[in-house]
Amino acid sequence: MKKDLLKLLDLTGEEILKILDTADQLKFSQKHGIPHDKLKGKTLAMIFEKNSTRTRVSFETGMYQLGGHALFLSGKESQIGRGEPIEDTARVLSRYCDGIMIRTFGQDEVETLAKYASIHVINGLTDFAHPCQVLADLMTVREHKAKLAGLKLCFIGDGNNMANSLIVGGLKCGMDVAVACPEGYDPDEKVLAFANGCGGNFKLCRTPAEAAVDADVILTDVWASMGQEEEKAVREKAFAGYQVNDALMALAHPGCMVQHCLPAHRGEEITAEVFEAHADEIFDEAENRLHAQKAVMYLLMGGEGA
Ligand code: CP
Ligand code: NVA
Repeated sequence: MKKDLLKLLDLTGEEILKILDTADQLKFSQKHGIPHDKLKGKTLAMIFEKNSTRTRVSFETGMYQLGGHALFLSGKESQIGRGEPIEDTARVLSRYCDGIMIRTFGQDEVETLAKYASIHVINGLTDFAHPCQVLADLMTVREHKAKLAGLKLCFIGDGNNMANSLIVGGLKCGMDVAVACPEGYDPDEKVLAFANGCGGNFKLCRTPAEAAVDADVILTDVWASMGQEEEKAVREKAFAGYQVNDALMALAHPGCMVQHCLPAHRGEEITAEVFEAHADEIFDEAENRLHAQKAVMYLLMGGEGA
């Protein structure tokens, strides 16, 4: 494994699958009470510059289950919020801790943190990417469908951090990927360049119906991400029609799964009916954040033989 997990573009398909295999094993160990305290004595600093429920709780709990300790640093209450350079924060935390999980705005902040840190850095969401979430999503799809390669993944909505990471993760695992975004809300150019050049099956559509045909899993996410609250009204107009509802599900493959990273806005990107019909899959996905992130920490921070 590499030193850090900053974005799925940095990983090979084999590395992604190794994380998923490890996550499956760690889930089995946890469910069966098999000890897996590989990170005894290790500490993870968790920097949050945006809100979180799942990421914070799953990383903190996961670190505890691995025998280590996680500590929460809010941007606002630490010196980061008073402008201490990320380069200095990186070097200071490297003197105390074994890893840093960071949730922030710019991907460049995470890349700089990793450059200056001698310890492992894990991206817990930026405006560009949400790699830990997508590892959990891929794990959940594989659990339910017993494979990834050859399945069709469809994302409906904003070309945001989730779309970017799903496109890369899905294609690297051999899935066909179709994304429907309104004009002006496309995924990142680097992601589109990868998607169009990787030799996989990728389609950027303008209508949800086109993307959903024969899908094995449909994913969606909020229309306005954290940091975009002021664009809410404009976005509601732009994304009208980009909703996962029964009519859209009828176009997909029978048995098509639904995944949502949460929090969900019922009546916007997904109807309450579709959400509740697929609630078991969606909360499996939320649970798998724990197992997928334990796998990432185990492989990155566990040293030789992890
Ligand atoms: N899906 C996700 O990352 O949830 P949180 O924002 O609650 O961490
Ligand atoms: N796209 C969303 C994902 C939240 C988990 C956001 O960035 O707010």
